Amino acid sequence: MIDDLEQKDQHKRSRQPTETARPATIAAVLSPYVAGPRNGSEARDSEGKLEEAVGLARAIELDVRLAQSVPLRRVTPATLLGKGVVERIKAAVEEHGIGLVVVDDRLTPVQQRNLEKAWQAKVIDRTGLILEIFGARARTHEGRLQVELAALDYQRGRLVRSWTHLERQRGGFGFLGGPGESQIEIDRRLIGERIVRIKRDLEGVRKTRAVNRAGRKKARLPTVALVGYTNAGKSTLFNRLSGAAVMAKDLLFATLDPTMRSIKLPNGKDCVISDTVGFVSDLPTHLVAAFRATLEEVIEADLIVHVRDIAHPDTEQQRADVEQVLRDLGAFDEAAGRPLIEALNKIDALPPEQRSLLENRAATGAERARQYPVSALTGEGVDQLLEAIGAFLSHAGEAREVSVPLSDGATIAWLYRHGEVRSRRDEGETAWLTVALDEAAAAQFERRQAG
Ligand code: GTP
Repeated sequence: MIDDLEQKDQHKRSRQPTETARPATIAAVLSPYVAGPRNGSEARDSEGKLEEAVGLARAIELDVRLAQSVPLRRVTPATLLGKGVVERIKAAVEEHGIGLVVVDDRLTPVQQRNLEKAWQAKVIDRTGLILEIFGARARTHEGRLQVELAALDYQRGRLVRSWTHLERQRGGFGFLGGPGESQIEIDRRLIGERIVRIKRDLEGVRKTRAVNRAGRKKARLPTVALVGYTNAGKSTLFNRLSGAAVMAKDLLFATLDPTMRSIKLPNGKDCVISDTVGFVSDLPTHLVAAFRATLEEVIEADLIVHVRDIAHPDTEQQRADVEQVLRDLGAFDEAAGRPLIEALNKIDALPPEQRSLLENRAATGAERARQYPVSALTGEGVDQLLEAIGAFLSHAGEAREVSVPLSDGATIAWLYRHGEVRSRRDEGETAWLTVALDEAAAAQFERRQAG
C-alpha cells in the first residue's frame, strides 16, 4: 500500500500541473487583521505582521509581487475574507499574473477551495506556508519525518489540488498536491497508513536520540539550547560560540533541526550547545506537537539561552511569543529549576543612546544577571555571555528552598550575590527563596546559617 502511494507520487510528479497556467512561484501575500478596537492579540501591528509573512514567503523563494494587509471585519464562513476583499484581490491576482496566494491566517479546507475558485490561483494558509518552509529546510532524517507527518496530517483534509511545483523544485512535500478528487478516498487511506509508518520510524529515531542523550548525561556534558524568534540571530550566535560553519543567512527559518556542537567555556568546562528552529507567532498547536521531538533538546537542556533581536521593533511581542511556546512545551519552567537567560542580540544595530541605556539596565537593573547584550555579528559581549553560561551551568540543577527572616537583608543579598535565585515569595516575616548554589557557596551558606 505504501508502495502504491509512492508510485502514485512519482506519477504525480511527472504530471504537468493543469489547474492554472500561472506559475506558482509568482505570489501574493495577504495578511488579514481584525479591524476594530484593539485587544491583546491584535497588538502586533498589521505592518509588522505583513512584513513577517512576506519574509516567510521569500524564505521559500516565492516571488512576492503583491503584499497587502486586508481587513477582517467579521469572519465570512465561506471565504474568511469579505466579498469586497475577495473581488479586489481577484483583480490584482489577474493583473500581476499571480499563481499562488498566501493567506497568513488559518483557512478551513472549504475556505481554501472557495478562494482558489474565486481567484483561479493556488491558495495556502499560514500552516501550509510554515510546513513548506519546514519541508524545504529539514536536514536530518528525524526532521524530515516530523515535517512529513505534520504535512500528511494537514493534507488529509485538503486532498483537492495539484501543486507539485515546490515539491519538485526544492524537495518540499507538496502537501497541497493530490491526484484528483476521484482518488480522495484511496488517498486518505494510504495517507493514514503512511502516518502510522512514519510514527513508528519516528519512535525508533527518538529512541536512538534518547540513547545519545543518556550518553551525554553520563559523560556529564551539560547542554545549552539556543532558542529564539525566527531571524533573531541564533545561527550567527551559534557560529560565534562554536566556531562552527552552520548555514546563517538572511532567510527566515534557516535552521530546522537542532545542530549540536561541544564547546569549551572560559571556566575550562565543556558543554554541548544546540541551535534550534526559529519560533513564530501563532504556530498552530498541532505543529508544535509535531515538532516536539525536534525541540526535545530544549526540553532537556540544562540552560536555555533565549536569543532576542533587540533591534526589532516587535522585540517585546516576540519575547512573549517565544516564552508562550516554551511554556506550552513545558520547557520554560523556572520552578523546575531550568534557568533561562537572554542574549540581547544585534546591539550593534541600535542607536548609541538606546544601546547604553540597555547596557546600563542589564548591568544594574532588576533583570541583572539574566540579560546579556551581545552582537553575534561583531562579537561584542560574547565573552561575558560565555562566562554567564559557565556560571549558570555550575549552578544548574542544585536548587533548594531556603527561608530567611525578612529582617536579615544581608543574608538575602548574599544569596542573590552568590547563588542564582529562581523564585521568591515573602510570607509574613519570612522570605522563601528557591536558590541554586554551587558546592562552595552551599558550604559557605551552611556555615553562615550555623554561625
Ligand atoms: P532562523 O533560522 O530563521 O530561526 O534564524 P536565526 O535566528 O538562526 O537567525 P540568523 O543567525 O540566520 O540571522 C538572521 C539575520 O540576522 C542574518 O542576516 C544575520 O546576519 C543577522 N544578524 C545576526 N546577528 C546579528 C547581529 O548581532 N547584528 C546584526 N546587525 N545582524 C545580525
